[in-house]
Amino acid sequence: MESSQGHGDDEAKTETLAVILAAAPEASQTSRQELLEQLQQCQKQQRDVNLMLHTVTQDSRCRLCPEKWLWWMGRCYFFSVGLQENRQWNESAEFCRRHNSSLVVIEDSAEMDFIQGVMRNFSQVPFLWVGLTDAKQEGQWLWGDGRAVQHYMQVMVEWDSDHRDCADLRGGTSLFAADCEEYGPWACKKEY
Ligand SMILES: *[C@@H]1O[C@H](CO)[C@@H](O)[C@H](O)[C@H]1NC(C)=O
Ligand SMILES: *[C@@H]1O[C@H](CO)[C@@H](O)[C@H](O)[C@H]1NC(C)=O
Ligand SMILES: *[C@@H]1O[C@H](CO)[C@@H](O)[C@H](O)[C@H]1NC(C)=O
Repeated sequence: MESSQGHGDDEAKTETLAVILAAAPEASQTSRQELLEQLQQCQKQQRDVNLMLHTVTQDSRCRLCPEKWLWWMGRCYFFSVGLQENRQWNESAEFCRRHNSSLVVIEDSAEMDFIQGVMRNFSQVPFLWVGLTDAKQEGQWLWGDGRAVQHYMQVMVEWDSDHRDCADLRGGTSLFAADCEEYGPWACKKEY
C-alpha cells in the first residue's frame, strides 16, 4: 500500500515539475537545471518503485495459493482435471486431505457459479466429486463440514438410492447420487 502511495506522489511531482518547466521559460539557467535534475531524480525513483513492485509480485512467498490451485474469494481450489486421473470418492477425499484441504463444500450460488464456470472451461469434465455423502445414514446427505445438504442452498440430490452414497456435481448446478466406487475427477478447497 505504502509503495503505491509513494508511486502516486512521484507521478504528481513529476507532472508538477513538467508544468513549472513549461510555464517558466524565463527562469534562470541554474534553477532550470535544478528543476531538471529533480525531475530526473523523480523519474529514477519511479523506475525503482516499478522494479520493486515487479520483484515483489513475482516472489513465490506472495503467491496466494499453491501452484496449480485457483484463487477465488479468499479460498484456494484444486481441480483434478489437469491430472488426467480419476479416483473413487474416498481416494479423492484423501487427496484433498493430504493437501490440507477438503473435497469442496459449496456454500452459496456464487461459489456454485464459479465451479460451474471452471467445469465449462474444461469441457471434458462431465462431473466432479464434491464433499457430500449419505454413507453414514441412507438419505441423510451431509456436507464434509457436517452440515445438512440444505444448510447452504436449496439443492436436491437426484437419483438417491441404497448403493449411491456419494454426490457429484454436474452442469446445470445439479447434484447427483453416485456409487462411491465410481471413478471421476474431483475438486478440493481450502482457506489460504
Ligand atoms: C476407499 O474405498 C475402497 C473400497 O471402496 C477401499 O479399498 C480403500 O482402501 C479406501 N481408501 C481410503 C483412502 O479410504
Ligand atoms: C500441510 O500442513 C502441515 C502443517 O501445517 C504442513 O507441515 C504441510 O507442509 C502442509 N502440506 C501441504 C501439502 O501443504
Ligand atoms: C474460463 O476461461 C476464460 C477464458 O480463458 C477465463 O476468462 C475465465 O476466467 C475462466 N473462468 C473460470 C471460472 O475459470
